[in-house]
Amino acid sequence: MDANNGEKSTVRSVAYSNIALAKYWGKRDSKLNIPAVGSISITLDALETKTSLYFDSNLDCDELKVDGNAASPKKASRVLDLIRDRAGISDFAAVNSRNDFPGGAGLASSASGIAALTVAAAGAAGLELTERELSIIARRGSASAARSIFGGFVELHTGTARDGSDSFAEPLMAASDWPLNVVVAITQLTPKATSSTEGMLATSGSSPFYQTWVENAPSALDEMRSAVLAKDFQKTGELAERSCLAMHSLMLTTNPPLIYWNPATLEVIQLVLRLRNEGVECYFTIDAGPQVKILCESQNASRIALELIEISGVEEARISELGPGAHLVTKP
Ligand code: DP6
Repeated sequence: MDANNGEKSTVRSVAYSNIALAKYWGKRDSKLNIPAVGSISITLDALETKTSLYFDSNLDCDELKVDGNAASPKKASRVLDLIRDRAGISDFAAVNSRNDFPGGAGLASSASGIAALTVAAAGAAGLELTERELSIIARRGSASAARSIFGGFVELHTGTARDGSDSFAEPLMAASDWPLNVVVAITQLTPKATSSTEGMLATSGSSPFYQTWVENAPSALDEMRSAVLAKDFQKTGELAERSCLAMHSLMLTTNPPLIYWNPATLEVIQLVLRLRNEGVECYFTIDAGPQVKILCESQNASRIALELIEISGVEEARISELGPGAHLVTKP
């Protein structure tokens, strides 16, 4: 397929990042990328990845560009290999991905990026897959990407099958049923030093608390699911903070330690505690990076964003609503 033909059969997709309220950290199978614990997330419409992709017989390997720069296609190729197997094709793919937020910095660009890639690749290969099948394939690229196939509130199961066939995400509740907001405090624009994949491998091999985390996960997940389905904001927020801090305790007790926070991260946490004391109900959560995501109800989002940008080290405060699942689009 030459460049012009490639252009003709280019498929485009969009996906949104997600933030886990009940976190995933650690794998029960690294090769198949099966998470050791289940997780519950919300998809965020303010953190978007747009992807275009075509298969091309002239390529001798998969080519990935992220935000205009050549990037390692390792995770993408895991997804593309599965799609090629299913479709019975052998052509490599040219993938162009654009984030409207800083990538690799703890804002889950791999979740939105791999989810967008999975949907685009399946479309370009002419496969009609169910959302569950898409979720399982996306999980092989990045487990959090399995959740970004869906919008709103989403649960990713660890499952028990050795081949990972029951480790998929599924919708828990529609965004419209509980339209929460998240204010994203971006405290660093550059990529983090240790990726989640490397970090969680180090944790499972060295944190004395890892086993306890895995054992406690099912009950933590049950509690979070009940709180979300009951739309109990206080409970959901408190559990989200607890899950976040338990995960960061694992990171801190990894050898060598994984310290993803910076001074502004801590200042934002303190702001959240102060606002809560002043009657503005909001809760923080943080992934493998220094950014803080603040869960709130829509009437408080602007006030929180205004307070955030007063903190030195907060580069941007972005208000997000809950977003939709990954889907194909016709326009760039
Ligand atoms: C801290 O899904 O990025 O964001 O599966 O190795 O690609 P891989 O890891 P990834 O890890 C996400 C970890 C987290 C918590 C979460 O999203 O549940």
